[in-house]
Amino acid sequence: MKDKWRLPLILLLAFLLTACGAAPEKESGDAVVVGFSQLGAESSWRMANTASIEQAAAQYGFGLMMDNANQKQEKQIAAIRSFIAYRVDVIVFSPIVETGWDNVLREARQAGVPVILVDRMIETADDSLYTAYIGADFYAEGRRAGEYLIRKADALQAEHLNIVEVSGTIDSTPMRERQRGFMDVIQDDPRFTVIASVSGDFLRSKGEEVITGLLEQYGAEGFDVIYSHNDSMTLGILDVLDRQGIQPGTDMLLISVDGEKEAVSALKQGRINCIVQCTPYLGGSVMSLVQALKDGRPVPKVSHPVESAYTDFDDLSDPAMEGF
Ligand code: AHR
Repeated sequence: MKDKWRLPLILLLAFLLTACGAAPEKESGDAVVVGFSQLGAESSWRMANTASIEQAAAQYGFGLMMDNANQKQEKQIAAIRSFIAYRVDVIVFSPIVETGWDNVLREARQAGVPVILVDRMIETADDSLYTAYIGADFYAEGRRAGEYLIRKADALQAEHLNIVEVSGTIDSTPMRERQRGFMDVIQDDPRFTVIASVSGDFLRSKGEEVITGLLEQYGAEGFDVIYSHNDSMTLGILDVLDRQGIQPGTDMLLISVDGEKEAVSALKQGRINCIVQCTPYLGGSVMSLVQALKDGRPVPKVSHPVESAYTDFDDLSDPAMEGF
């Protein structure tokens, strides 16, 4: 068998056997194996994030057992259990919601498998259940969205703006923190009222559905600003505004988060006013933590990538502002 196929085939076989409850254990001396539970494939952000983790694992020469949970927490818990049974060296996972992980993480700790949280955080009274967290500072992202709105309202000399929020998956870290950061910045400013907040689950189709409902309920004159927690939902929202003859970017201000190519090009066309950057490229940082654990070096408990925002106040001809 060609060497390049050996590790992927062993991992595939091990994973299938694990799923059937008959897991062979990893032999000591084998290459480092990382078990990665990805939460789904709901957005371009998520696809780029998965690719980044896969590429980085390959660059470091680590084996990757990867499971996509298709937005189901039970599937993530089952995947983590199978990684424990296989005795991977490190478990990496991106928790879909914040609560409900303590039991399975206790099992990982008992088995001596370190856990790295990537992208999203968990809510737990015992933070020794994970070794490290690497992901965006979602609270700072929410604040950036609010700060942009204040600057825009000043520039427009707006007296009052009604806002609708299309939020991400309920109880996920980006949903909670992007909301909290935004509200902390705008809530004491009498020019702003958030008239509705509805979850669109980070999905383009749901973004469309939610904005259609809000337009039916309030009418196009009923609100002036849409704060959408990710670009996928924003792109769905743009489709609806176009169909209804509402001019995004002028009739209605749009604030989004992520930095997907399609959204960045809508920003350049003046159809989105602000995109708060959230980088999906976390793979290199995750694998460097895995390497540090393998070498017995200490790792930081929490690390955030450096991020900023792209807005209609900026020079949008910058080629670096391209998106993923
Ligand atoms: O957890 C990160 C968020 O999840 C991204 O903003 C979003 O696009 C994704 O689905």
